[in-house]
Amino acid sequence: MKIVTIIGARPQIIKAAGLSRAIKNNFSDKIEEIIVHTGQHYDQNMSEVFFEELGIPKPNINLNVGSGKHGEQTAKMISGIEDILINEQPDAIVLYGDTNSTLAGAVAASKIHVPIVHIEAGLRSYNKQMPEEINRIMCDHASTLLFSPTKAGVENLVKEGFKLDNIAPFNSDQPGVFHCGDIMYDNSLYFSELSDKKSSVLQDNKIKAGGYVLSTIHRNDNTDQPERLSGIFEAILELIDVYGLDFVLPLHPRTEKQMKVNLSETLQKRIEEEVRLKLIPPVSFLDMIALEKNSKIVVTDSGGVQKEAFFFQKPCVILRPETEWVELVACGAAKIVGWHKEQIIDAFNGYMNTEQIDFPPLFGDGEAGKFMCEKMLESLG
Ligand code: UD1
Ligand code: UDP
Repeated sequence: MKIVTIIGARPQIIKAAGLSRAIKNNFSDKIEEIIVHTGQHYDQNMSEVFFEELGIPKPNINLNVGSGKHGEQTAKMISGIEDILINEQPDAIVLYGDTNSTLAGAVAASKIHVPIVHIEAGLRSYNKQMPEEINRIMCDHASTLLFSPTKAGVENLVKEGFKLDNIAPFNSDQPGVFHCGDIMYDNSLYFSELSDKKSSVLQDNKIKAGGYVLSTIHRNDNTDQPERLSGIFEAILELIDVYGLDFVLPLHPRTEKQMKVNLSETLQKRIEEEVRLKLIPPVSFLDMIALEKNSKIVVTDSGGVQKEAFFFQKPCVILRPETEWVELVACGAAKIVGWHKEQIIDAFNGYMNTEQIDFPPLFGDGEAGKFMCEKMLESLG
């Protein structure tokens, strides 16, 4: 079986490590994988670093599309992916998550009838202002095999008319929907020990296990609106004052750029002068795992980081008005707060005063990649 895997943004590169590892370890005689990087993310620390440290095969092709307006960026990707699919004639295309690279793969493949395998299917924020919500809905509805990491994801698909009878042969009119666990849980388990051995990120940044908060911000909703970005940083500065904890914030390039545009000079100065607020460049995945495992609380608008906080049993304050990972909130391990200073502080205070939080097993057994390969071979091989 020949598959073309599309990656482009940071989280997709990390997710792809899970499937590539399953192929290499269990199915190397049965599945040939061709990796195509759209070039959506291109900085060394947003892309290349992950190939080296996670042992992902280097992309066979890089479209080098780069940044741009949604339509412009997606169109270039569609055109590049279409040529590759025509050339390679794969049995399926594998798409991850909900970025513009995902959508481009779905459009290109569906037009020329290449079956689509969507990993992380069924997730919904029910907020169509998010570019990701449109991308994931469109991708799901063009897919032949839908692998959902959560029960809520499967339920969302059923609400949208997908059937669970799962009778092969599958096609885009009669797709297969599988609840299979989370490929990122596979990765977090797999790389956790290596991170313990290799990462020196705590020493490098002079922080102590349990003595800091890990934070990431990159959603366009937060970075591109001055009021929201300011609310988040005001809350962080106040929490540092109250608790005397360090805040470590690996800065997404989008955020670094938008902070200069959207924060007042006074606020930028306060941020610069606060030594306990450590703004650092994006870190490698092994460093990120170390930062997550040793943090006290995680404050983030990232989908992936929300979940990894949960995997490593850390409470999470979600800087968004909703989440696709509703289970985290339902079990009390995460709180949705949006961008309002007071709500962020309230939620944070709540976790500082909470002793016991439950982290039930919600994301599978760490073998989602293997399960997906088996299903692909059964139905598309
Ligand atoms: C994208 C995804 C988002 C995902 C995120 C993961 C879409 C619509 N959004 O958002 O779902 O959560 O990736 O990180 O696909 N930039 C650089 N260097 C890079 C990459 C980006 O400087 O290597 C800067 C550019 O100014 C660019 C901006 O970041 O315009 C935004 O990048 P883009 O890929 O368009 O969206 P993200 O915000 O990264
Ligand atoms: N991540 C990383 N280094 C960083 C920030 C994030 O390796 O500096 C990892 C993180 O552990 C998770 C993924 O990137 O696996 C999440 O990506 P991001 O937050 O960019 O996107 P999202 O998950 O929100 O789409």
